[in-house]
Amino acid sequence: MRVLSGIQPTGRFHWGNYFGAIRQYIALQDNEQAFYFIADLHALTTIRDAEVLRQNTLDAALDLLALGLDPQRAALFRQSDIPEVTELTWLLMTVTQMSLLEKCHAYKDKKAKGLPADAGLFTYPVLMAADILIYDSDIVPVGVDQVQHIEVARDIAGRFNSLYGEVFVLPEARTLDETAKVPGVDGEKMSKSYDNTIGIFEPEKKLRKRIMSIKTDSTPVEAPKNPETCSIFALYKLFATPEQQAALAERYRAGGMGYGEAKQALFEAAMEHFHEARERREKLAADPDTLRDILRSGAQRARTKAREVLERAREACGLPARPL
Ligand code: ADP
Ligand code: TRP
Repeated sequence: MRVLSGIQPTGRFHWGNYFGAIRQYIALQDNEQAFYFIADLHALTTIRDAEVLRQNTLDAALDLLALGLDPQRAALFRQSDIPEVTELTWLLMTVTQMSLLEKCHAYKDKKAKGLPADAGLFTYPVLMAADILIYDSDIVPVGVDQVQHIEVARDIAGRFNSLYGEVFVLPEARTLDETAKVPGVDGEKMSKSYDNTIGIFEPEKKLRKRIMSIKTDSTPVEAPKNPETCSIFALYKLFATPEQQAALAERYRAGGMGYGEAKQALFEAAMEHFHEARERREKLAADPDTLRDILRSGAQRARTKAREVLERAREACGLPARPL
């Protein structure tokens, strides 16, 4: 079984990304063949500053490795290092109905707001289909917001197959457990678009300040508090054992504990949880050669597969064979 997923380097990763996505990607590397890439081509539809894109891409790779992605097991690479993907995008584009893309939410939402959309945004799902189909991916773990795009990839693959024979494997989305959406400092879903995120690798002082800024109600210190409606507690649960959770919940209910104390407990739990990852990240960041080698060898593995599948597709639709 091949598992594949991509993540856009549009900013530094936050707790929502970790608990909602990255953690599961890393867990899957243990028993499946895993390919993970940094979707820098997709990020071009939003990032228009070359230096920012370069930096974000490297940061994303460092973050993933520091968090436990093991390059011996999973191939980690940059999307743009596999030029076969963009070639396949064209082949797929020729069998993609406009009406299919008009339904896709990124484009539809922009259009509904009366904003101009470029062709890159419109055809974004086709590039994503190429990302998936080019590695014969079976399973694509994604957040619920991306399920529509996997359906599009299946549709396109089905159309291509019905025209030219069984070329592509039909991928399946595996939705990540997002039942508990990670809340941000304002209590809404944590997202970089809401400016309410807590960064995984924030420097210690900044992290403390950010945690101290989590919005709470104005229940006085002495009064009992409800852990179930409190964002601090929701975040604490992500890090703590059931016993630790029960102990803090008890202190909420007993009264006499201010939110500041709960924030301190959250800060300590987060520091402990990401302690090793922070150390690993520092080491990796100081060794750009190793990072370069990891990305290069990931790309090599991915490219071998990509060449094979692209060749299959080219041949099926009548393009000349190219020696592998
Ligand atoms: P953002 O909302 O900050 O732009 P992305 O859309 O780039 O984040 O999300 C990347 C991945 O992280 C997706 O799989 C998404 O489902 C997951 N994710 C992001 N924010 C959260 C959250 N608050 N709770 C759970 N998962 C999240
Ligand atoms: N569009 C995805 C996102 O914004 C990232 C992505 C690009 C992706 N290509 C992919 C995810 C292929 C899964 C498979 O989150």
